[in-house]
Amino acid sequence: MPFNQKNNQGYRREFLKFLAGSPLLTSYSAFSQEVEETLGEKLTNPGQVINVFEMEALAREKVPPAHFGYLISGVDSDTTLRANREGYTRFQIHPRRLVDVSGPTDMSVNVLGAEARSPIFLSPIGSTGGFHPDADVGAARAAAAKGHHMILSTQASSPIEDVVQARGEGSVWFQLYSTDRWEYTEALLRRAEAAGCTAVCLTVDLPGGRNTETSAVLARGDDRFCEECHYGQAKPIFDGLDMQGVGLVDAALTWDVIGRIKDVTNMKVLIKGIEVGPDAALAVQYGADGIILSNHGARATDTGRGTIECLPEVIAAVNGRIPVIIDGGIRRGTDVFKALALGASAVGIGRPYCWGLGAFGQAGVERVLDLLNRELAITMRGSGTPSIAAIGPDYVQDVGHRVPRGTLGRDIL
Ligand SMILES: Cc1cc2nc3c(=O)[nH]c(=O)nc-3n(C[C@H](O)[C@H](O)[C@H](O)COP(=O)(O)O)c2cc1C
Repeated sequence: MPFNQKNNQGYRREFLKFLAGSPLLTSYSAFSQEVEETLGEKLTNPGQVINVFEMEALAREKVPPAHFGYLISGVDSDTTLRANREGYTRFQIHPRRLVDVSGPTDMSVNVLGAEARSPIFLSPIGSTGGFHPDADVGAARAAAAKGHHMILSTQASSPIEDVVQARGEGSVWFQLYSTDRWEYTEALLRRAEAAGCTAVCLTVDLPGGRNTETSAVLARGDDRFCEECHYGQAKPIFDGLDMQGVGLVDAALTWDVIGRIKDVTNMKVLIKGIEVGPDAALAVQYGADGIILSNHGARATDTGRGTIECLPEVIAAVNGRIPVIIDGGIRRGTDVFKALALGASAVGIGRPYCWGLGAFGQAGVERVLDLLNRELAITMRGSGTPSIAAIGPDYVQDVGHRVPRGTLGRDIL
């Protein structure tokens, strides 16, 4: 059943009016402006949005509550979700002055043969059709327009062939959840390779389920009949496969899976979901071509550790042998800069581009990419680093403690 955005905004306005009139609320004036106008009514064009946090606020108004809850949720008490953001405050930038940065800022990267105009990759997100009908194809068109590399989820809403066509061959990698039947996993790999994907990213951080409480709480505010859309629906990558009784997770996987994947595909193999140095070393030892340092956007184990805090030990363990990509909590160009300075070859964003998608479809994703690229370019020029290659460890320092949430400026929008 399509979600009625107007009703959602109406509900929100009524709720704010109720709050404004409540004796519990002491400062009516602070609320009165919002009562008159929601952010969605104020910002009707993606070009008016000034940062990804505003895009999140807009998506919150437009995306059905249960779907928005699915998007923003971490696990348990969202401790790791906060750590992914706060972790970045541990690292401070050391800018250098009087460097000629008058030329164009070169943000291009080449990771395992994938060329991109920006080091910001689109991380794999399942069920993007729940945020906007443009879904993965819309995100791919935005990525193509702005020159970003994209990783497509096993749980994507759009068929992989359509996404590769929209983004262009060589610029989409396939994220794999191995099923518990190897012949099915092989079938997925074959389809991804035939579609034109040049690498597969095996996600290894969800072997045992997860507890997404924020998602459950927001779903309570959604009275639509979920089964009407969700019942018995397999994602497009499973078309032609009888999924009856097939599990989407294989909890028995061990490191030899890298070799087994390599036996059936010529795609490069990256392992997504590595968080500690010893695992990074094992990934190299077992032949992985790359690592995605990720905690699934704080949706797997509630470790309490931000991914950026894991990066130094992973980089040290890998010791330059294979590229490391990091995702989780990246919301600013300065975050991208810090990750690159600590040794990442590229970074991934998940929720931010989905907020753009939820708010404005493809145009919203383009705006999110523009905003982050602009912030990164400003940071690079401001730090005296006109190219990605120039950004090194001297430009960042670990001060050893985080700045708590609530003092992160616009993050609290
Ligand atoms: C709604 C949602 C769905 C996701 N689906 C997948 C998925 O299907 N496969 C996967 O490997 N990671 C998935 N992830 C994790 C992302 O690929 C990525 O690691 C994470 O979103 C990065 O953190 P960020 O959202 O803070 O940028 C998902 C994350 C979210 C928020």
